[in-house]
Amino acid sequence: MTDAPTTPQRPWLDATLPVEERIDLLMAQMTLAEKVGQTHMVANIHPNDDAAEIASGRISSSLYASGATAGNERDAGVLVANIDAAQRHAVEGSRLGIPLLFGRDVIHGHRTVSPIPLGIAASFDADLAEQIGEVAAREAAVDGVAWTFTPMVDISEEPRWGRVAESLGETPVLSGRLAASIVRGFQGDDPGDPDRIAACAKHFAGYGLGAGGRDYDTVSVGENTLRNLHLRPFKAAVDAGVLSLMAAFNDVDGTPMHAHEHLLREVLKDEWGFDGVVVADWNGVGQIVFQGAAADQREAARLAIRAGVDLDMVSGAYLEHLEELVETGEVELALVDDAVRRVLRLKFRLGLFERPYAGRPGASNAPTPETREIALRAGQAAHVLVKNDGVLPLDASADAGSVLLTGGFVDDGDALLGTWVLDGRGEEVVTPADALRERLGDRLTVGDGRFSDVTLMQARAAETTVMLLGEHRSRSGEAQSVVDIGLPPGQLEVLRSVAAFGKPLVAVVYTGRPLDLSEVLDLADAVLVVWHPGTEAGNALASVLLGEVEPHGRLPMTFPLSAGHIPTSTHQRPTGRLIRADVDHKEGRYIDALTYPRLPFGLGLSYTSVDYGAPTVSAPTLPLDGSVTLSVTVTNTGERPCRETVQLYFRDPVAEVTRPLVELTDWALVDLAPGEAREVTFDVRADQAAYVGRDLTTRVDEGEIVLLTGPDAARLQPVSVTVTKKDS
Ligand code: BGC
Repeated sequence: MTDAPTTPQRPWLDATLPVEERIDLLMAQMTLAEKVGQTHMVANIHPNDDAAEIASGRISSSLYASGATAGNERDAGVLVANIDAAQRHAVEGSRLGIPLLFGRDVIHGHRTVSPIPLGIAASFDADLAEQIGEVAAREAAVDGVAWTFTPMVDISEEPRWGRVAESLGETPVLSGRLAASIVRGFQGDDPGDPDRIAACAKHFAGYGLGAGGRDYDTVSVGENTLRNLHLRPFKAAVDAGVLSLMAAFNDVDGTPMHAHEHLLREVLKDEWGFDGVVVADWNGVGQIVFQGAAADQREAARLAIRAGVDLDMVSGAYLEHLEELVETGEVELALVDDAVRRVLRLKFRLGLFERPYAGRPGASNAPTPETREIALRAGQAAHVLVKNDGVLPLDASADAGSVLLTGGFVDDGDALLGTWVLDGRGEEVVTPADALRERLGDRLTVGDGRFSDVTLMQARAAETTVMLLGEHRSRSGEAQSVVDIGLPPGQLEVLRSVAAFGKPLVAVVYTGRPLDLSEVLDLADAVLVVWHPGTEAGNALASVLLGEVEPHGRLPMTFPLSAGHIPTSTHQRPTGRLIRADVDHKEGRYIDALTYPRLPFGLGLSYTSVDYGAPTVSAPTLPLDGSVTLSVTVTNTGERPCRETVQLYFRDPVAEVTRPLVELTDWALVDLAPGEAREVTFDVRADQAAYVGRDLTTRVDEGEIVLLTGPDAARLQPVSVTVTKKDS
């Protein structure tokens, strides 16, 4: 029998010492069992049931997942009361008093809910993304949550995959820039600030490439494509100081990501210098067994700790086996130490040793006018107008014609919140019915949430019909893949009948993914794609419909013609057989269908018209270490103001590896008054044309780069520059 370790002094509590020194002091006192405890994360920790386990120092952290705590966490104060009670066992009851870390999926808002991430991406607005993160952090912190599992930066070009809703779209630069802003919003300059929490970039890596769009499916991708595309937003999040990253469920070319030593340890930790926590995804360590790459949990634990997974989310494999694996020499202690150091670093950085009871019992985090204002701006920015024959904006005057508002989202607050909302409340949502009733009074008829023959009678009677179509929040998100990207059954049938009346018809599409909207676009006079807009959904819609604000969202993913056309995105690279419009009909590659995108990446109309001049550059050559200025004149040629998203793309016509035909590299949000012309300039640097070559190192080549500007990926005008070693 060994003597129980005695309680040491706690010199690591001296907050004036540097964090690394505090970690050293603490780790010097830790037993192997206590170290392993710091790598073990449980779900829904229970302050009573788990008291002994917490006090033994065998639990590092807890995730509060959907719908499960000791009570109904949606009742005010239950979550924070649970968290504080559990924390007390750790801080006061355990030998070393190491505080627990509480995580929760606060994805696009906590109580005040902003649009789903794909809707946030539609804003192309990095400042707004930061504000959304800041509000969510503040509200979550009140409940004692110290860590969230967002942003998701999996490159998303696969509409069948339900998780595109959680993503920031298909392009690495937009995704990376918004992710960096979201990280800043959550973490601020000092994540130890009581109003800030830690962020987590996920899911590293390649998760968006699951075969067939099926969630969790296998991924076959080469490292060049990973580096040139999929890893880039993660790198942006790391550069922005994200405190944690989550490993992905999938394998990459046969190696489960939770066992992927090359990508996790060699690339992320060694090459990029990431010093934060790599957390497993839910049971991700245990799942290596299901993936057939480990015989049992013991082997899974050995593979995962070696690969660089620091914190085992819920599988228990580390808790059960790591100690023995170290004792038998199968796992070096240094690997466990590295993981523990990272977990403790996160806890120190969050100020948990100073402020273990981080929540504020009794404080409210319900939406306020200020948080609603941000959610409203975000909701408006998520409204993407993809067609308008002139029916929008609706006439706001009191004596204008009658309007029917009908369809599944008219007054269903909950459905408007979108996927991954644990704390937002349907009853706090302003619905389209609420908002339009307030503005249109007697002019408005609110139809049923379900289409029926009454819908047709109402539409026949109304002068204008606004149909709310699309998919319920529960049809997108995790484990919600579909093979049919059309509207859910029944909706088109009603749309066809209403359209047959020949009266003004506006289709509003609530969705978590790009849908096949071909027939909707044919039948409706105006079409708005609005994702799931969150707490201020109704006000966002009403303000856009009535022209109180100009529509200014842009599509962050390409909308393909059909599911059979997937993938269709801006990632397309040139092939050896060029597509010839004359021979291949309209850019054909199939013999039974055309292949252009139904709605291109970046598309978004306004209530005015905007003319783009040809881009010019300040010099024909772009020095490797310098920049040129690209200018393009945009003119509002209509009668209403607008916010234009002026987009800049690159094409590298000759490189060591095939490069995308166009890749978004920058953009500017420009407000234009009616008739106003503005010269928009971009500072273009050679390093923006950097790419990863055949030897997997980053390079910038001399030679031509085509810069393209325009309102979306399908309407671009080029200008070339030559990258040179010397300024000439
Ligand atoms: C998801 C993660 C999420 C985690 C914790 C998993 O199933 O893939 O994105 O953060 O659960 O809730």
